[in-house]
Amino acid sequence: MAITRLPLIAGNWKMNGVKKHANKLAGSLAKRFRNQKKQKFEMLICPPAPLIGPVVEAVRGTGIAVGSQDCHFENAGAYTGEMSAELLKSMECKYVILGHSERRTLNKETDAVILNKATTAHKVGLRTIICIGETLKQREAGRTKSVNRKQLINSLPHQATAKNTVIAYEPVWAIGTGKVASPDQAQDMHQMIRAELYKLVGPAEADEMRIVYGGSMNPINARELLALPDVDGGLIGGASLIVKDFWSIGQAV
Ligand code: PGA
Repeated sequence: MAITRLPLIAGNWKMNGVKKHANKLAGSLAKRFRNQKKQKFEMLICPPAPLIGPVVEAVRGTGIAVGSQDCHFENAGAYTGEMSAELLKSMECKYVILGHSERRTLNKETDAVILNKATTAHKVGLRTIICIGETLKQREAGRTKSVNRKQLINSLPHQATAKNTVIAYEPVWAIGTGKVASPDQAQDMHQMIRAELYKLVGPAEADEMRIVYGGSMNPINARELLALPDVDGGLIGGASLIVKDFWSIGQAV
């Protein structure tokens, strides 16, 4: 059967933007997305949590998806400041990013926590983007593959399918640094991840599961990265805050 992975161009706004950006940024993307002739890629915006509602309204009816940057592993309870997957689903979120390296480092999130969150998210019908990636120190020590393999095996739920899961390979040394993985480095890792997915979810799901690249992707390097056989889109931080840049990355698909 032919493989049909629709590239995913996902913007992770991180802790950037105030209310007016929801209309301005999301609104202009909505206009461009609506006007394009053929949908060559799926577009996703993950704003800070309080902007989810306004962004959902700004992109309504365009086909642009909205996602969260995190969720809790419980559906409700005494967890001040947290938000449940169920709540996000009710706010019309389609996706949730889990295990971003900033959360792994700053919030001490372990693979086990990410696995729990992903399991809960899948139960309520959210799609997960599970992030993995090595630090510079780990790469220099020759541990790139083992580190990524371990994160993937331990954070991916057993019930993961190509429909409910996207893997994001984000080398930590490339995030927000302007240092992007070379096409060879990216393809090498994406190929390894897909080979690992063959064992974890079976060949049929592994062939259809999208593996996106993240880390200093911009309109200049996007074309080369997105053309790689196992790179099925991008998770974009900095460049997703500039309409022109984010849109150009989509056009590079
Ligand atoms: P960057 O961030 O594009 O700013 O490097 C990517 C990410 O953290 O997802």
